[in-house]
Amino acid sequence: MTGDCRLVITVDGPAASGKSTIARALAGHFGLPFLDTGLLYRAVAARLLATGIDPTDETALLRCAGELSEADLATPDLAAEAIGALASRIAANPRLREALRPFQERFAARPEGAVLAGRDTGTVICPEAKAKLFVTATVEERARRRCEQLRRRGERPIYARVLEEMRERDRRDAERAVAPLRAAPDALVLDTTELDPARTVAAAIAWVSERRRACAGAEGTSPATQV
Ligand code: C5P
Repeated sequence: MTGDCRLVITVDGPAASGKSTIARALAGHFGLPFLDTGLLYRAVAARLLATGIDPTDETALLRCAGELSEADLATPDLAAEAIGALASRIAANPRLREALRPFQERFAARPEGAVLAGRDTGTVICPEAKAKLFVTATVEERARRRCEQLRRRGERPIYARVLEEMRERDRRDAERAVAPLRAAPDALVLDTTELDPARTVAAAIAWVSERRRACAGAEGTSPATQV
């Protein structure tokens, strides 16, 4: 939602917090296109792994980013753990982040509005969006969910290892110098540790509806609300 109240919704949060599920539900409810920005970093990582390019070779990294198309985001194996781990490492590169920014900004500028999910969509990519959410859950709960996802894909995850990798990913995402993972001051913080998915989605829809009304001139709402 910008000055003209075009509805742009951002949903940020750590891995396996439930942000993509919430973002998709919001996109469906409000009839908006959805971009999972993590797929951009994953698509670059997948290309590096496929071609054997050294991730510290910045020129090659930026070339991969420049060659990305929407079709690359639809590759099914982008969900693989190895791709996610490499995506989180290359995401600390400020020049890569800048290279991937125009794609995200163009998406957010669609006339019909948009929903973007990621780590910095409310803080860096769309600071003007007034409907922002920050979705989180304890690292133990997120590791449990990730194990469930992996089991559904036929893998046999070891909880302790998944937990350790999750902690490591959180640390990298939160401590990097550029666009670290954090809630925008005007975001609704949704802790999904104990919330069931239906209540979480209902809270998110209520928040966005309230923000939309506020933009349209109704009563203002208080920022950084905690659920
Ligand atoms: O969300 P997902 O797990 O697919 O993201 C993969 C990695 O991409 C994250 O661990 C994070 O380091 C990076 N990322 C980011 N900024 C975003 C989206 C993802 O740094 N907006």
